[in-house]
Amino acid sequence: MIKVDLTGKNAVVTGATRGIGLGVAKALAASGAKVACIGTNEEKLNESVADIVAEGGDAKAYVCNVADSAAVTEVSKTILADFGKVDVLVNNAGITRDMLMRRITDDMWNDVINVNLTGTFLVTRAFVESMRKSKWGRIINISSISGLIGNKGQANYSASKAGVIGFTRTVSKELGNRNITVNAICPGFVDTDMTRVLQPIYIQEITSRIPVGRIGTPEDIANAVLFFASPDSSFITGQILTVDGGLIM
Ligand code: NAI
Repeated sequence: MIKVDLTGKNAVVTGATRGIGLGVAKALAASGAKVACIGTNEEKLNESVADIVAEGGDAKAYVCNVADSAAVTEVSKTILADFGKVDVLVNNAGITRDMLMRRITDDMWNDVINVNLTGTFLVTRAFVESMRKSKWGRIINISSISGLIGNKGQANYSASKAGVIGFTRTVSKELGNRNITVNAICPGFVDTDMTRVLQPIYIQEITSRIPVGRIGTPEDIANAVLFFASPDSSFITGQILTVDGGLIM
């Protein structure tokens, strides 16, 4: 794990129940941050938080659907009351509803945009005032290589992730003067529940196109998050970092 000292910093990670979000929450906690873990599945979220605490980290669970504006407002009030301030925000919660574009239903489109893009906006808006007040902040949005180059069967998902990139670039321009950096990470293929549903043959084919010879892990993405979250990364903002093992598309 990349060594970063986040002692005294408070972090919020959305979609921290499992996969990349859990990896990120663990890495932030291991770096000294106190972590508010947001997720929708209460039971799994509590298990994940217990896991972080068992590893010596400081973390607390908050159940919230990031696509629900009222729920986000409510949970942000609770987190700020519990933590006092928020310094690092990782917008990681995301879903897929893959289908060829001509067969995407309104629900499949709206669900993906609402969680991946609107959720990123709602949670960022909810915590930005705390960062502005303390004149320090790190916002890290998890986009995807699908948002950069597109991917057959993911018109809704790639549109949402491209939206996250535009959002990141604009918000970085609005918040730079408050010492708040805003960056995005575009993971390539990472081994999580999201990708385990894919056919093994497809996973093999993708792996054959990754020069480092393996698919990614949540820890690979967490390292990139730590890099952006570091107090030493204060001159890096509005950037989109691809973390994909060099995937050849
Ligand atoms: P995952 O499916 O394992 O985990 C997603 C997390 O988001 C879960 O904790 C889930 O409870 C949470 N979540 C989903 N909807 C939510 C909602 N409405 N409100 C709050 N939490 C919600 O997925 P994975 O792979 O860990 O993905 C994490 C992020 O990384 C996502 O944004 C995904 O799009 C992105 N990503 C993943 C890649 C991969 O290969 N696994 C590649 C590129 C990007």
